[in-house]
Amino acid sequence: MQHTHLIRKYPSTLTGLLLAVLGATTTPLFAQSTNSETAGSVSNAPAAIPVLQIKADQAVAKASPTLYGLMTEEINYSYEGGLYGELIRNRTFKANPTNAVYWNTVGNGSISLDTTAPLNEALNVSLKVDASQASKDSPAGIANGGFWGIPVKPKTEYHASFYAKSDGKFSGPLTVSLANTNGKTVFASAKVAGITGDWQKYEVRLTTKNVKPSKDNRLVITVGGPGTIWFQQVSLFPPTFNNRPNGNRPDIMQLLADMKPKFLRFPGGNYLEGNTIETRFNWKNTVGDISQRPGHLDDGWGYWSTDGLGLLEFLEWCEDLKMQPLLAVYAGYSMRQPHVAPGADLEPYVQDALDEIEYATGDVNTKWGAQRARDGHPAPFPLNYIEVGNEDNFDRSGSYDARYTQFYDAIKAKHPNLQIIATARVTTRTPDLTDEHLYPNSEGAMEARAHEFDNHARTGPKIFVGEWATRVGAPTPNMAGALGDAAWMTGMERNSDIVLMGSYAPLFVNVSNLKRDERGRLLPDDSMQWPTDLIGYDALTSYGSPSYYAQQMFSTHHGDVILATDATDIPMKAGPSTARRGSGTNQPAASAQQLPAVFYSVTRDSSSGTIYAKIVNTLGMPQPVKIEISGVASVASSGEAVVMKANSPDDTNSITQPTHVVPVTEKVKGLGASFTREFPPYSITILELKAK
Ligand code: AHR
Repeated sequence: MQHTHLIRKYPSTLTGLLLAVLGATTTPLFAQSTNSETAGSVSNAPAAIPVLQIKADQAVAKASPTLYGLMTEEINYSYEGGLYGELIRNRTFKANPTNAVYWNTVGNGSISLDTTAPLNEALNVSLKVDASQASKDSPAGIANGGFWGIPVKPKTEYHASFYAKSDGKFSGPLTVSLANTNGKTVFASAKVAGITGDWQKYEVRLTTKNVKPSKDNRLVITVGGPGTIWFQQVSLFPPTFNNRPNGNRPDIMQLLADMKPKFLRFPGGNYLEGNTIETRFNWKNTVGDISQRPGHLDDGWGYWSTDGLGLLEFLEWCEDLKMQPLLAVYAGYSMRQPHVAPGADLEPYVQDALDEIEYATGDVNTKWGAQRARDGHPAPFPLNYIEVGNEDNFDRSGSYDARYTQFYDAIKAKHPNLQIIATARVTTRTPDLTDEHLYPNSEGAMEARAHEFDNHARTGPKIFVGEWATRVGAPTPNMAGALGDAAWMTGMERNSDIVLMGSYAPLFVNVSNLKRDERGRLLPDDSMQWPTDLIGYDALTSYGSPSYYAQQMFSTHHGDVILATDATDIPMKAGPSTARRGSGTNQPAASAQQLPAVFYSVTRDSSSGTIYAKIVNTLGMPQPVKIEISGVASVASSGEAVVMKANSPDDTNSITQPTHVVPVTEKVKGLGASFTREFPPYSITILELKAK
């Protein structure tokens, strides 16, 4: 039996079966030919070798150049404790209204939060340090252990800064040091004198010698004589990517850069909406000098954000990685509060969105463009995409249609070229794109959806898959997750005439503290709120999961046209069962059924002629596939294969084994217009075929 994604036809029986299995309500799936009647095994009869017929002269559509991007929000300590360079936890003392959490006293001193001596309206509390018992031989002060540690690296310059004032009698000096947790090793230290009775900012550089990298360290500030001192915004930055002040961690930025992402969807996710209007991402509070940013409770994910990584920093992140911003604007819906009524009540939020767009794109003569210039970035940022809200289908009142319309009309009136993305069904306007999210909780459930766009209508709004992930593996996906993800990506890529953009979520997780209670529930101060995240890190190092590498493979071998490709005799395997793998789900359980075991998509770089054949073998056995290429004069006999494989679907990467499962590029011989290649068990392969 033959199947094709070009002739969008399928036998109703198998399609119906698959739809029933998946609980799908919209899109029919492709029929697949099968060699196996037994779930999970290949039959004893000699299996026909699957054949992939690539019609190299038939470009069915342009491959969307913006397909592979990133989605981000403050979750799992993504920014503070992650990408954002700040190393001090609770630097503004606002993480808890009654306690100076994450701060410790050193020596015979005491600390308390003080609202009577604020730095300013935004940072309206300070840390009072009573060091009246301090002496030269018995210094007293404060220490902060960062986000599960402070990284100390050899020959590295750290930038420490803080606001301080004294009772007017004490003038210093303060000793600022980077020391290990037991205080026995001081890696770098500096003195700060001239403390007065008025708030002033102090800055020092701390440079380490040729020390061994470590993370069980603290920033310590002490006095060697009696005094009372108040502190605010105590900060410590390591070198940042592109040396940006208030910038990002280089190792994580490099991981992202290596994915060659085309866009960044920000600032959320739930982080955009907050549980209440008060706790939404209120962008106007996230720009300007960081000492003027009040911060807010990220109550969707349960911890404080200083908003040090604010709107400008998101845009600069895009600039650094040459990605387009995809700016999600607050649309009057928070997760635990009735929505703002469309009409006059919604108008201030629409205006906020227009101002936000002006901040990003306006010239320096506009109000918000001028603010951006004052913030250090006179040049406007390119901006093509605005998303109105996030997952507004959860607003069961049905108000989204009217809210979207109000935003759409106001934005299009001023910025007719902006593409405006809807997050739920709307009928009053035609969105430029609609954002769809999916988080299947098994690789089979994800693989079962890999064909869902094949028969999707080619008219109507384009599709942005703004959040997708196979939720298998924690804290980061394992090879099973990567296989599900790769299968899904073949579907997005094959259909990237309508699926213009896609982004995995969540992007980041701090893996330092993954403790659970006896029922597996997250404990307070856990560093992960959502298991199965693309990139993991602790204070010192970071790593990409197998899914990260799968995306990197796809994104860096993209091509610009989708080639007509037929397949025959694709083997079948057991589909998702009621037994769940991984944790968390928003998908219905499905009973065991038959699914394709091999997935593919074929694109071509029309300028060089190179054909990229992506083949995902989800089976635990080698799978030969015959590849036939028509419509070209010749195919070189040697080429390259990028292969990521694992011995087991449970194989994964971690802080201690960061590159256990990674792609390997190999030279391949014996290629041509017709050849057979064996694809390893549990593997994702990209064949680069030089065709003329
Ligand atoms: O990616 C995690 C969360 O999943 C996002 O914040 C939200 O949009 C979705 O429900």
